Amino acid sequence: MKKAAQRILTGHRPTGPRHIGHLAGTLLNWANLQDSHECYFLIADLHVLTTDFMHPGQIRANIFEVLADWLAAGIDPQRSRIVLQSAVPEHAQLNLLLGMLVSESRLRRVPTYKEQVQQLHLQPSLGLLSYPVLQAADILLYQAGAVPVGEDQLPHIELAREIARRFNQLYGPLFPEPQAILSSTPRLPGIDNRAMHTSYGNAIYLRDTPDETTRKVMSMYTDPTRIHASDPGRVEGNPLFVYLDTFNPDRDETAAFKQRYHAGKVGDVEIKVRLAEVLNRLLAPLRERRADLIRHPGHLEAVLMDGTRSAATLARETLAETMERMGLSMGRNLHVSELFEDQPENVVRKIYC
Ligand code: TRP
Repeated sequence: MKKAAQRILTGHRPTGPRHIGHLAGTLLNWANLQDSHECYFLIADLHVLTTDFMHPGQIRANIFEVLADWLAAGIDPQRSRIVLQSAVPEHAQLNLLLGMLVSESRLRRVPTYKEQVQQLHLQPSLGLLSYPVLQAADILLYQAGAVPVGEDQLPHIELAREIARRFNQLYGPLFPEPQAILSSTPRLPGIDNRAMHTSYGNAIYLRDTPDETTRKVMSMYTDPTRIHASDPGRVEGNPLFVYLDTFNPDRDETAAFKQRYHAGKVGDVEIKVRLAEVLNRLLAPLRERRADLIRHPGHLEAVLMDGTRSAATLARETLAETMERMGLSMGRNLHVSELFEDQPENVVRKIYC
């Protein structure tokens, strides 16, 4: 018998359109994993609120931007489930239950939390503190065995493993301890050489036009100490070459550029022109698919609803089992409608007697 494919779950927060850092770092990797795994791709809209609850008008549009980018990059709704987190209430319910198994001091030591608190101008909320508990709930709700993520997410996967282990010790085995699958591509710098980030204005987006892309590449940071094309230039840590290493399929050409750059035998402009071509050629088919998807919002909505509905079945089963193991099974056969029809004393009798 064919061994059942391992289940994976991963996701993004819908913070805006995806950029080429997402493409190289996660999306191409996810698209490939669909061949060998049963994949759940989560649009983590609840997680957005942990840092940004002041712009409720933006979330809906961002969900569709992310969805169009995912599909354009090769996420295939025929083979994988695309799930909207807030539409499956079991995410929030499991978050609450798993929160009982983690100490507050453990959560305050999570490095991403410490960084966020430093950057935040507000008092950190309870929601931000329990961000990784919600993420653990996302993963464990589908009993996923593996989670493809970038390195920055490793502390969260570690916490999910601890929670799974603790639950299994206390209540008997239920959750696999999820393994991280790290992408082999290092984090891509932005065009200003800081980390590429939606809020830094230094990203090249999948939805950018060829002209916008070329303009961004022509303005890229390179080696600031190099004044003339005949000055020997620095290749290591130069974002031009990080991009070429990542995106140029012609490795010999990249190697030749590096050699000439190092020897002071090529100007920045020649390399930038070529890099812009490489990116535009890579992105052309994606942009075409994306434009087509954006023109059909009804189709995008259907994809999201189908994936979400199909994931909800498993979510419901896992939550029921979790509640049962934790001793909360008494309400299982009571329906909410029944409760509302009854007098309060009858409700209490039904639950506890
Ligand atoms: N925290 C992840 C990020 O910012 C997004 C995320 C939410 C996620 N839930 C998840 C990733 C579950 C993997 C698994 O990138």
